[in-house]
Amino acid sequence: MSTSVEMSGIHLAYPTESGAVAVLNNASLKVPPGETLAITGPSGSGKTSLLLLLSGLERPDKGEILIGSQRLGGMDSDALADWRSRHLGIIFQSFHLLPGLSALGNVSLPLEIAGQAHAREQAISMLEAVGLSHRLQHYPAQLSGGEQQRVAIARALVHQPSLLLGDEPTGNLDQETGKKVLSLLFDLHKKSKSTLVLVTHDERVAERCQHRVRMDGGHLYEI
Ligand SMILES: Nc1ncnc2c1ncn2[C@@H]1O[C@H](COP(=O)(O)OP(=O)(O)O)[C@@H](O)[C@H]1O
Ligand SMILES: [Mg+2]
Repeated sequence: MSTSVEMSGIHLAYPTESGAVAVLNNASLKVPPGETLAITGPSGSGKTSLLLLLSGLERPDKGEILIGSQRLGGMDSDALADWRSRHLGIIFQSFHLLPGLSALGNVSLPLEIAGQAHAREQAISMLEAVGLSHRLQHYPAQLSGGEQQRVAIARALVHQPSLLLGDEPTGNLDQETGKKVLSLLFDLHKKSKSTLVLVTHDERVAERCQHRVRMDGGHLYEI
């Protein structure tokens, strides 16, 4: 399952005590269904904010976001949470696994939240796909960084989301482990046919994506 992603005329500023922090100024982008987009740009340029907008966790001050036929601005927060649980997978730089749940618990949770049957079996087969069938009952603290990120990838993909977002998913891994985790991510992406939007610092990663944009000074530049 895949979906198109379209953002048009997006403005975003965060209000703070010392005035508004402008992050996006009339930004637009388009990704066809099933394709890959890399977002690069300096720290603080708004890459994470862009992913938050695409997941409906942040709302723009102006502009429209369409994921497939779904207009995010037209949904209230309950509808957005429901939409996310069915259609969206997110992989963070710092894994964000729940420390009190095993690898299996972390991966089956999204399925349980979405009320799907056979959550456990599906989670086990997804953990097998990322090479962790021998770590099902381990807690995050008992796993290496690379293993934790593989659990996070399994969790993001287990409910077969049509849109997969990655926020510097290899940023906390050593180079060798990072390479392996990325290969795995691209392999799984190919099989899943989801649309992939990836924030990365790494030029070599960006080169593996079909589309590339650079963020700077509130603008998006196609490269
Ligand atoms: N909740 C917030 N409130 C105020 N300012 C924020 C908030 N989140 C991010 N910012 C600011 O917005 C800018 C973009 O942040 P971010 O999207 O995290 O950038 P990046 O991911 O590219 O490093 C930064 O200047 C950051 O300090
Ligand atoms: Mg960021």
